[in-house]
Amino acid sequence: MAEFSIRLDDLGYEVAGRPVLSGITLHSPARRIGVVGRNGSGKSTLARLLAGLLKPTSGQVRIAGIDPIRDRRAALETVGILFQNPEHQIIFPHVGEEIAFGLRQQGLNKAEAARRGQAMLQSFGKAHWTDAPVSALSQGQKHLVCMMAVLAMRPQLMILDEPFAGLDIPTRRQLARHLDRSGTRLIHISHDPGDLAGYDHLFWLDRGRIMAEGAAAPLLADFTAEMIRQGDLDDIADLAG
Ligand SMILES: Nc1ncnc2c1ncn2[C@@H]1O[C@H](COP(=O)(O)OP(=O)(O)OP(=O)(O)O)[C@@H](O)[C@H]1O
Ligand SMILES: [Mg+2]
Repeated sequence: MAEFSIRLDDLGYEVAGRPVLSGITLHSPARRIGVVGRNGSGKSTLARLLAGLLKPTSGQVRIAGIDPIRDRRAALETVGILFQNPEHQIIFPHVGEEIAFGLRQQGLNKAEAARRGQAMLQSFGKAHWTDAPVSALSQGQKHLVCMMAVLAMRPQLMILDEPFAGLDIPTRRQLARHLDRSGTRLIHISHDPGDLAGYDHLFWLDRGRIMAEGAAAPLLADFTAEMIRQGDLDDIADLAG
């Protein structure tokens, strides 16, 4: 079997004629890829393109040879995504049915989906959450539900769109450890260099373009220095886009 790799070729995405992403070319066989960029640089748009949730305006996405837009079925088996905000991910009122949903999408029958969902909850020591209302969970607990729901689908690649933003240090560390343990390939997208230290291959996204790529340590050092420089210069006007 060919080596698993991510290939983005001259990818572009426009909204109402305005480019949000342009000329994104990214080739990597790395197991843990990081994408760092500041607010509004196009990170969530890139995450959605990778997962096949948005159609590129130009260029193409290939994940292990799959076009996630054209081959939805293969994409569902291959790629999982964790959103920035769990409220954008969770559909069902109870934890068990939320976790079973993705498995049903993958074609498992109701009983199999419930069984596999229960096994996932059990592996996280959360079997007692099956009938818990999602609305009663804290933000960190909702993030964990989303992570379990995606991991239950056994994706080869997991796309993380800042899933740890707003979580405390122990929760971040625990969730990161669970991800490491799962052994799934990762594309972790974040504005926070601390999330990406130790990743195998990094890309720096700036105003919709790849500004640099390389090893984590030097790239994150350059990114941090530039963010401090911009923070010293900036007013917040450019947040308006
Ligand atoms: N559907 C849309 N309609 C209009 N503008 C959009 C749309 N999607 C993205 N944009 C614009 O594209 C730019 C990038 O947005 P995106 O959400 O991808 O950034 P981000 O890097 O994830 O930001 P953050 O760090 O704040 O989450 C922003 O200027 C945003 O306003
Ligand atoms: Mg975002």
